[in-house]
Amino acid sequence: MSFPIVRNRRLRGSNALRSLVRETNITVNDLIYPIFVTHGTNIKEEIPSMPGVYHWSMDRLDEEIHEVVALGIQAVLLFGVPERKDAHGSSAYDPNGIVQQATRRVKELYPDLLVIADTCLCQFTDHGHCGVVHLDEKTQRAEVINDASLELLVQTAVSQAEAGADIIAPSNMMDGFVDAIRHGLDEAGFEQVPIMSYSVKYASAYYGPFRDAAHSAPQYGDRKTYQMDPANAREALREAESDVAEGADFLMVKPALAYMDMIRTLRDQFDLPLVAYNVSAEYSMVKAAAMKGWIDERAIVMETMIGFKRAGADLIITYFAKDVAAWLREER
Ligand code: PBG
Ligand code: ZN
Repeated sequence: MSFPIVRNRRLRGSNALRSLVRETNITVNDLIYPIFVTHGTNIKEEIPSMPGVYHWSMDRLDEEIHEVVALGIQAVLLFGVPERKDAHGSSAYDPNGIVQQATRRVKELYPDLLVIADTCLCQFTDHGHCGVVHLDEKTQRAEVINDASLELLVQTAVSQAEAGADIIAPSNMMDGFVDAIRHGLDEAGFEQVPIMSYSVKYASAYYGPFRDAAHSAPQYGDRKTYQMDPANAREALREAESDVAEGADFLMVKPALAYMDMIRTLRDQFDLPLVAYNVSAEYSMVKAAAMKGWIDERAIVMETMIGFKRAGADLIITYFAKDVAAWLREER
């Protein structure tokens, strides 16, 4: 009878031993919480497909911000649901737009809480695309035109920085957006404002609940001419490389769960801080199963968060951020 010499179970014998050899940890500093702001008064309206996530009007935003700060979260990502949409998404770069107003409010309340502004046009355009659309007379096809879109995205980013945004996070997937926004910010005197680029953003069905929440689904067509094909990995390297060359300060992979391989690849190939975006449907699926009593929500969420970190993410944008922050406190 021979017994094993190597016994991996030796290091699993107690909680203390397991903590001692734990390779990956998550802290509240790793979390970014997305918030949806809207016009009107006295609005705290739950998003039906995202239980626990709300639309907030300016007059009630403070409640959410106080809670975030009390939990020790250091960064919020602001999304705006505007009153008015038009072909050029002009509410996106209105100095008094909803994101600009919310940014000013947060910075007034808590100057140290980081405001990250999502820079895109899709919530603000009547057609719901992330750029300017041009109808080709000959083919009768609507095309999202790159370079004209860049100008509007630069205006959006600059107006967000003017309102006090600490980080600009462009999610539009136009070519050259980091370069254009970097120059625009620098010319406006914001050379110290970092760009968190949605570098590797796939054309994904996992954005469904967000589009309900932000009223930003394309009215025709889809986003496949600018967001990436889920089948492609090498192309992700080209996206990340160009962003690095254009001066991005953070890289991102989005969605996260079905793209863990890309988180690992970017971690291995690039040195910039890496963000994983745990997107809306990843949240809704867990919530739905938890509400049915089919899964242990807390355990599932914490395991998922550790998974993102183990894959190589430094930061996680997640609708679970407040829950995770609270659970981390209980663990201590
Ligand atoms: C805007 C934007 C989207 C998300 C973040 N910024 C939607 C999209 O590209 O359609 C998705 C976030 C989520 O699903 O949680 N471009
Ligand atoms: Zn968009």
